[in-house]
Amino acid sequence: MVRKTTVHALALTALIVSSTGAWAAGSANNAPKAPEKFMTFCVPCHGPAGKGDGPAAAALNPKPRDLTDGKYMNGRSDAQLTNVIKNGSAAEKLSPMMTGYGSMLNDKEIKDVVAFIRLLAVPKYQPKK
Ligand code: HEC
Repeated sequence: MVRKTTVHALALTALIVSSTGAWAAGSANNAPKAPEKFMTFCVPCHGPAGKGDGPAAAALNPKPRDLTDGKYMNGRSDAQLTNVIKNGSAAEKLSPMMTGYGSMLNDKEIKDVVAFIRLLAVPKYQPKK
């Protein structure tokens, strides 16, 4: 009986370790490192790699934006992204599913998050001169 419990505990530990590994994989490799605020507030919907596939995304329609979709994202200005992050997606006439983070993130933190999002775009984002 005691033995069996030990085996279960081991199996559980292995499961936790492997799933944590998969979770971290999105930000590994050559991917840019996400600011801590992004990991805390945005990953549940946008996913660790910004692909719009976070655990909460399944319940959403429309889906959280795929932040790696450069074809779309590169056409959005910093001002638009900042407005969405600060005041919510409805502020840019998008789906109202994303609330604003203006009370949780200061301007510097929002700027850092926007800069990080710009690094995710494929094709690459070219800042306007
Ligand atoms: C509750 C889920 C949810 C959370 C949490 C969330 N978002 Fe979103 N986000 C969305 C959805 C849904 C959209 C797409 C709206 C649409 O396409 O109509 C979106 C759109 C966006 C866009 C695209 C704006 C554009 O111009 O099209 C950006 C950028 C973005 N989110 C960044 C963030 C950042 C940064 C955070 C964390 C501070 C965050 N989101 C947190 C759901 C979420």
